[in-house]
Amino acid sequence: MDKISKEILFSKDAIQKRVRELADQISKDYEGKELIVIGILKGAFIFMADLIREISIPCRVDFARLASYGAGSESSGKVVMTKDIETSIKDKDILIVEDILDTGLTMQYLVDWLEERNPRSLKICVFLDKRKRRKVSFEADYVGFTIEDGFVVGYGLDFNEKYRFSPDIYVIKQ
Ligand code: PRP
Repeated sequence: MDKISKEILFSKDAIQKRVRELADQISKDYEGKELIVIGILKGAFIFMADLIREISIPCRVDFARLASYGAGSESSGKVVMTKDIETSIKDKDILIVEDILDTGLTMQYLVDWLEERNPRSLKICVFLDKRKRRKVSFEADYVGFTIEDGFVVGYGLDFNEKYRFSPDIYVIKQ
């Protein structure tokens, strides 16, 4: 496993710069409002922790846990919610924060789930957007970086639970 080679895609510095830009844009767009930020566990917690500390408007946070089960680099495509949010979102402004938008199946599931609770607004912020693999037509409102196909790890993203805590983002070469 440790023999897998990986190539750096985004350095810690590049990530930090882009997170600040996203936070500035979000703070501007929601000026005068309060935001409920919902992170999708597990992958999003690192990006969310960085983003939230750069956002200048008042925020509350909550988490949902969604997983598309399957080991290795291919997801099964079946999304399961194993932890729901605990906050009432009716008539509130909601921002979903996610590490990566890939097929879009996870996000589609969550958006449908949350829309039923009638938030005032619902937007999506993803750090990485892997557009080529999309299976449902879905656009995020805020995107850190758009990437090509390829298995990425680090900054919350794992490969069989490894590399999740790397401060840089890598592409795995198998
Ligand atoms: C990853 C990622 C997203 C999802 C995106 O989660 O964090 O939630 O896949 O893929 P999709 O657009 O194809 O649905 P994963 O299921 O690996 O769980 P984890 O965040 O706990 O690692």
